[in-house]
Amino acid sequence: MEIKGSHFLLRKIKIEDRFQLADIADNRKIWLNLRDKFPHPYALEDADFYINMILQEDPQYSFAIEVDGKFAGMVGLLPMDDVYRKTSEIGYWLGEQYWGKGIMTEACQLVTDYGFDTLGFIRLHAGVFEHNVGSMRILEKCGYRKDCVFEKAIIKDGTICDEHRYSIVRG
Ligand SMILES: CC(C)(COP(=O)(O)OP(=O)(O)OC[C@H]1O[C@@H](n2cnc3c(N)ncnc32)[C@H](O)[C@@H]1OP(=O)(O)O)[C@@H](O)C(=O)NCCC(=O)NCCS
Repeated sequence: MEIKGSHFLLRKIKIEDRFQLADIADNRKIWLNLRDKFPHPYALEDADFYINMILQEDPQYSFAIEVDGKFAGMVGLLPMDDVYRKTSEIGYWLGEQYWGKGIMTEACQLVTDYGFDTLGFIRLHAGVFEHNVGSMRILEKCGYRKDCVFEKAIIKDGTICDEHRYSIVRG
């Protein structure tokens, strides 16, 4: 499945993305804003493990972001289960050299629409660490609203911080 953005393509991840993935994901500034299951440092074996995991998805939940023919980051949905199965989390990260060009705002919008229109979710949500104003701005621009702040919910790199919870509903 491919979705065209104005200056990028959302597509399935490929084995050939492994070098570029390991290269751009190996960045402390990215890791600081993500859960600890995102490896740091990020080795080629981490890229291989991740790519193999994502390639098993059916239906497709995750998209590689391709800019000028190169792997530039990921955006995807993490579906919940049981009574929450019509809800999904949304998550994303972009290689630092691609920041500040409006890419993730558009990618988040496209995957939000995909989650509702193609996958049939009725609620999407995201949790943002308190210092990550760029990510909060993305969600707000995509129509998500801030539900609440989970005070001191996170420990990242030894520092405790709040989590800002955003959601959007449709249908
Ligand atoms: C957060 C991240 C995805 C932003 O991607 P991006 O493509 O650079 O974002 P955009 O260019 O679409 O910018 C979105 C908005 O946030 C603002 N913004 C982006 N980074 C910002 C920052 N560090 N401080 C303040 N505002 C910021 C932009 O100005 C823009 O708002 P505007 O249109 O009103 O000017 C990227 O920095 C990243 O991958 N960070 C590390 C991983 C991460 O944080 N993932 C999200 C976890 S919840």
